[in-house]
Amino acid sequence: MASFCSRTGLINVFLLFSITFSDYGLIQGVNSLGINYGQIGNNLPSPDEVLDLLSSLKLTKVRIYDTNPQILTAFASSNVELIVTVENQMLATLMDSQQALQWVSTHIGPYFPATNITGIDIGNEVFTDDDTTILMQNLVPAMVSIHGALAQLGLDNYIRVSSPHSLAVLSNSFPPSAGSFKSEVSGVMTQFLQFLSSTNAPFWINAYPYFAYKDDPNTISLDYVLFNRNSGMVDPNTKLHYDNMLYAQVDAVLFAMARLGFNGIEVRVAETGWPSKGDANEVGATVQNAATYNRNILRRQLANEGTPLRPNMRLEIYLFALFNEDMKPGPTSERNYGLFQPDGSMAYNVGLSALSSSNPSSTSSATISLASSATKAANKEYDQSLVYWMFVFLLTLQVFMRRLY
Ligand SMILES: *[C@@H]1O[C@H](CO)[C@@H](O)[C@H](O)[C@H]1NC(C)=O
Repeated sequence: MASFCSRTGLINVFLLFSITFSDYGLIQGVNSLGINYGQIGNNLPSPDEVLDLLSSLKLTKVRIYDTNPQILTAFASSNVELIVTVENQMLATLMDSQQALQWVSTHIGPYFPATNITGIDIGNEVFTDDDTTILMQNLVPAMVSIHGALAQLGLDNYIRVSSPHSLAVLSNSFPPSAGSFKSEVSGVMTQFLQFLSSTNAPFWINAYPYFAYKDDPNTISLDYVLFNRNSGMVDPNTKLHYDNMLYAQVDAVLFAMARLGFNGIEVRVAETGWPSKGDANEVGATVQNAATYNRNILRRQLANEGTPLRPNMRLEIYLFALFNEDMKPGPTSERNYGLFQPDGSMAYNVGLSALSSSNPSSTSSATISLASSATKAANKEYDQSLVYWMFVFLLTLQVFMRRLY
């Protein structure tokens, strides 16, 4: 058994590396990695300064939770691809097609295409909001209206309409092959998936392995949730091996969709992250774990990884979040998901910037200046860190190839 496991493990690694190797020409930056730019703080930098920070990090995919006109204006003529959000409380109004047309004309029309809006999220976590029943009924009609308005304005080929869900839409996520939606959402979910399928839009999931760990730290392996080296788990039905919880959660969503008859919809991670600080009962919310989690995701993203079920399809991930947001309600962790402090200094070093190449394990509090002269230097350092990871990657590949033959 043990030798079987290690052999398939090795073959998986080989497959994984041959897949990433064939893609390696694409590794110019972290193509798929995006970031959530939440604004629930009273001390955040201006959108222009945020754009400088994003450029210095070479992050080009950003999601916001509204259609803040200052941000839409500031991000014009940049290389940022922006996903905007219709707030949950707007869904009821926007079911009406005239209202939807009005909304798109005022909130999207004036900014596109100068600002590269690539998606509109209709609400966030609608199925698990406090107000679920009404929101649930309104979701798909609002999506249809907004999509219709985009089509009327000739924008539907550029802007995809979707709506991120929390993992709480699943009744079962373990093992991944048992993934299924809760019975109370499955009716609306079928209509929702029908919409995504017919408009070629992705299914976005907000997935936080941190929550699973916090709730059950004695049972759940920290290394498994943090993407550290660990023996992982094998799905008994598919025999697929999982070395981290996030990929297992994503594949559980794929299985849940398949159970409702939908096989062709891409799953993307709209939010994932780890708090660097929490209350006494929020086990695992530390700077060290937050840095490890995000750094490991960055590493996997640089390798263009897919999940075990869809190894050829790079998993698109948006980290939560760009900044610590001091005005978020709830436990301490809620205000401490940021990679950056509001003043632009790192909450911890993920390795997106400079200092990772000279000292990858540093948790330095060095500041990335928001001034543009410093931005250039940061870009150069970032390129060096890419070269460093490429080197580690190729070295690892060689070692595995040698072991295999
Ligand atoms: C906007 O983003 C899309 C999606 O990645 C890309 O194909 C397109 O070229 C971008 N448009 C501009 C003007 O940069």
